[in-house]
Parts: sequence; C-alpha cells; structure tokens
Amino acid sequence: MISYKDLGLVNSREIFAKAMKGGYAIPAFNFNNMEQLQAIIQACVETRSPVILQVSSGARKYANQTLLRYMAQGAVEYAKELGYNIPIVLHLDHGDSFELCKSCIEFGFSSVMIDGSHLPYDENVALTRRVVEYAHKYDVTVEGELGVLAGVEDEVSAEEHIYTKPDEVEDFVNKTGVDSLAISIGTSHGAFKFKPGQKPKIRLDILYEIEKRIPGFPIVLHGSSSVPQDIVAEINKYGGALKDSIGIPEDQLREAAKSAVCKINIDSDGRLAMTAAVRKVLTEKPAEFDPRKYLGPARDKLKELYKHKVINVLGSNDKA
Ligand code: G3H
Ligand code: 13P
Ligand code: ZN
Repeated sequence: MISYKDLGLVNSREIFAKAMKGGYAIPAFNFNNMEQLQAIIQACVETRSPVILQVSSGARKYANQTLLRYMAQGAVEYAKELGYNIPIVLHLDHGDSFELCKSCIEFGFSSVMIDGSHLPYDENVALTRRVVEYAHKYDVTVEGELGVLAGVEDEVSAEEHIYTKPDEVEDFVNKTGVDSLAISIGTSHGAFKFKPGQKPKIRLDILYEIEKRIPGFPIVLHGSSSVPQDIVAEINKYGGALKDSIGIPEDQLREAAKSAVCKINIDSDGRLAMTAAVRKVLTEKPAEFDPRKYLGPARDKLKELYKHKVINVLGSNDKA
C-alpha cells in the first residue's frame, strides 16, 4: 500500500472547499506522457493554481501505473523546483469498477472517480457507496456521477444526453457519501460536442437547480473542452482533416465556475493543441526527426493553453 500522503499529494477536500467559497474551479487536466505533465505543472506553478492530474484507465494502460505514480511524485518535486509548492491531486478519471478504484488507491492516487452513471440508479448507489467506504479509510476522496453525457466514454457510448435529475441528487449524495458529484448538463467528451447549426449551450438552469438541492456541495463538469477554432484551423492548415468540431463556449464555463462547480475536466483541447504544434513543425521542417524538436513546441503550446484556461476560464490563478 502506497499512501498518496507520502508522495506529497493531497486529496480534493480542502481545495474544493476553498473553490466553493471563492467562486472558481480547479482544473482537472488529463495526462498520459511527460510533455503533458511538464506543461501542466509549468502552467499551474506560473499561475499559482492548484491542479488535479487526471489519469483515465486508458492512460493507465498506456503509460504503466508504476511509471505514472513516479511521474506524479516527480511532479510534486518539479513544482517545488520551479519555485512554488502548489496542491497536486492524482485522480482516477472514469473508474468503472470497485477493483480499479481499489488498485489506484493502493498505488498512491489521492482521489478516484467511480462512474456508475450508465447503471440503473440503485446499482450506481451501491457501487459508489462501496468505493466510498473503501476510499475513506485511506482519506482518499471520491467523485460519483449522475446522468449520462452524450458521446463516447471509454467503451461506453450514448446517443443523447440524459441530463442529471435534480430530484435525485440529494438522495444520491446522502446514500453514497461521495465527496463530489459529476453532472450531465449538455457537455460531452471529445471534439464534436454539437452538430453544425446547433447552438453550443449548456443547461446552467439545471446546474442552479441542482445547487439548490445540495447547497455547498462540490459539482464536477466533464467534457468541458472548448475546441478553440484557431487551433482547429491550424491543424487543418497543416494537413489535418478535422471537420465540424465544436466545443463548449468558454464564457459559459466561466459562469459555471462561479457556482458550485469546483472541478472542470479538460482533455481534448490539450490533444488539439499538441497536434497543431506537431503538425506545424513536421510540415514546415519535413527533414526534422528529433522528437524533442516537435514535442518541445507541442509542450509550449499546451502550457500556453493551460495558462489561458486557469486565468480566463477557471479563475484558479493565485489560489494555490
Ligand atoms: O473522459 C475521457 C478522457 O478524455 C480520457 O480519455 O480514455 O482516451 O484516455 P481516454
Ligand atoms: P473533453 O473531451 O471535453 O476534454 O473532456 C475531458 C473529460 O471529461 C475527462 O474526464
Ligand atoms: Zn470525463
């Protein structure tokens, strides 16, 4: 058993409590590799923001769980070396079983998500409760989910959003004992969140209704990439073929961050930024074959994107 506390990590309890009071949200950025991790830490140290390092089960398979743990521990030391000891959470994104959550807790994660959102309500409650009981023994925080996001999540996909029912949230939170709740209000995973002609809009009215039912309880938004159109244009300029990719407008996320939303998940925008930078280098310098020459610019572009998110969307700058 490796305790996250020995790695210098923190759980999400205190940073969420501060975010709730302060009207901002904590960034949850996914990572799979060193350049993404460097960009996240550099951006969050420079903006003095707390951060949630998020690992999906796919990322865990890709990068190896032992390496990931040392990378997270390294991130804590790296932040100090850069000059500021920001709070860093290591979080399992979309855990789909008790066993996976347990294994992550034993491997040094400080926070886990158990995503039972595709299950019937009572099964979601039972599974989430089981994870909470185990996690809380080790002071690890747990995120649950109610409602289903449209689009693809790992192997599961849904055609349509099933918005979170405000009538269910109080019962779910009480019965499970979760520390935060992910909700479905029109965000979705990936770079194609709306169809052309649709108005990109999230249901802030449902969020506010949920907030009334569980005042002061931390809410999480998944699928919150904005798919910056200048980055998409750059990808396409340098040989990409992304068509009709549309994200969540940043001003709507900024509004959400002022409410009970304490955690905003962003992965796709980082993928787009890296891809744009790599394509540019490889197109402009076709003879280049040193990975540092294209991954370095990709890392710089990612860092710039993350700083923008922290300052202009989440409002978590200077809150570390
Ligand atoms: O919610 C999904 C995240 O963007 C992680 O994606 O499962 O491809 O690593 P992934
Ligand atoms: P995006 O695909 O919108 O970046 O969402 C990421 C996410 O929710 C990770 O859990
Ligand atoms: Zn997600």
